[in-house]
Amino acid sequence: MCIYNEIKKLKEEKNAVILAHYYVSDEVQELADYIGDSFYLSKIANDIDAKIIVFCGVSFMGESAAIMNPDKKVLMPDLKADCAMAHMVNLNKINEMKEKYDDLAVVCYINSTAEIKTYSDVCVTSANAVKIVKNLPNKNIFFIPDGNLGRYVAEQVSGKNIILNDGYCPIHAAMTKSDVKKSKAEHPNAKFLVHPECTKDVLDEADYIGSTSGIINFVKQDNCKEYIIGTELGVFYELKKQNPEKIFYALSPELVCADMKFITPEKVLDVLKKETNQITVTEEVRNKAMAPLKNMLMLAK
Ligand code: 13P
Ligand code: SF4
Repeated sequence: MCIYNEIKKLKEEKNAVILAHYYVSDEVQELADYIGDSFYLSKIANDIDAKIIVFCGVSFMGESAAIMNPDKKVLMPDLKADCAMAHMVNLNKINEMKEKYDDLAVVCYINSTAEIKTYSDVCVTSANAVKIVKNLPNKNIFFIPDGNLGRYVAEQVSGKNIILNDGYCPIHAAMTKSDVKKSKAEHPNAKFLVHPECTKDVLDEADYIGSTSGIINFVKQDNCKEYIIGTELGVFYELKKQNPEKIFYALSPELVCADMKFITPEKVLDVLKKETNQITVTEEVRNKAMAPLKNMLMLAK
């Protein structure tokens, strides 16, 4: 039996679903029941009726699903798949900010560890951060861990004191303004679409700034023919697949979230068969980290 049929059979037998981020390879996406950006996948993970969730993404995604689903098994094809930014917070600094400001809200990008979430009031993703921060009653916001997304949010929201952290995504932050200028000179008719994890001088060059799904949806309704893509290469390939009549240029061939490459169909089959690589969180972490995740789902509506 081919690997796809074997996985399909196991999914039915075990009442399992496979969730995949757009960043994973096409071969893995083909196995998935749901494909999307971080926000879409968190909503699915929260609502899904299944016994087992196999999460094809990096660890913060699987962890978030495990926090929200105490009664389900959440498995990850490779436990080494991690997001470097997720760890870039100094916990002492959070406590310092809480002491300094009475009305502080700690707003935590979902790209963070379960432990960091336990210190937070609300989680956000790049798809809903502006909306959620705008609607919070608090004047003082400590935005963690991504300083670039935090700064972008601060520029979109007036009347708040948004304190930034110095975390960043090594892949998105590696794009430079001169890469963009060069690509624009080579493709003068192309629009430049970018993820808000990029630095300010790169965002300043953008025709559109948005999450993975934001970029995909923008192209769907736009009538331009050519685009320069300033985010992870998986999105570039997804856009090419969805829009064969349009032309896409990747800003750099190195924009790869390398850890996503650990995830292969063989590993998906293996964890599903043996039910290994289960993501577990302690009761204490779950109790504290569930609220910011649920708050996000409620406030993003
Ligand atoms: P999205 O929220 O757009 O899925 O992005 C997640 C991410 O990790 C970006 O690098
Ligand atoms: Fe994390 Fe960057 Fe990879 Fe996104 S692209 S998962 S922020 S390391």
